[in-house]
Amino acid sequence: MKNSQSDDLKIIQTFYTKYKKELLDHITDEEENAFPYVLELQKAYDQKTDPLPKHIAEYSIQSFEKEHTNVDEKLFDLKNIIIKYLEPNYNNKECNEFLFELFQFERDLTDHARIEDNILVPKVMDIEKELKNA
Ligand SMILES: [Fe+2]
Repeated sequence: MKNSQSDDLKIIQTFYTKYKKELLDHITDEEENAFPYVLELQKAYDQKTDPLPKHIAEYSIQSFEKEHTNVDEKLFDLKNIIIKYLEPNYNNKECNEFLFELFQFERDLTDHARIEDNILVPKVMDIEKELKNA
């Protein structure tokens, strides 16, 4: 049996609400834990702080920085669910704008993950290696 339009909207809304929470948790965790740690580590490196403060010595970027696979894949799923449930007679102008924004957001999120995974994390790991194995 085919879902009614309101069932479709509920599915999308539930998925969206869960996704939004997961993404906000990810970003909040970075803002409150990972990035302050990176700034402190950089400061200790610049000032040649010895010994390292406990809150730096006992952690590593890998303990803070969470995987991006989940948030990336779920946005991909959300986008596909929305496209799948589009009404055939959808409002062209509004929907195209919305879909464009959604695709743009997906690209932004991919950039976010690439910058952190390929630039920030390896750079921080180099500094950690130098400071902690010295
Ligand atoms: Fe991230």
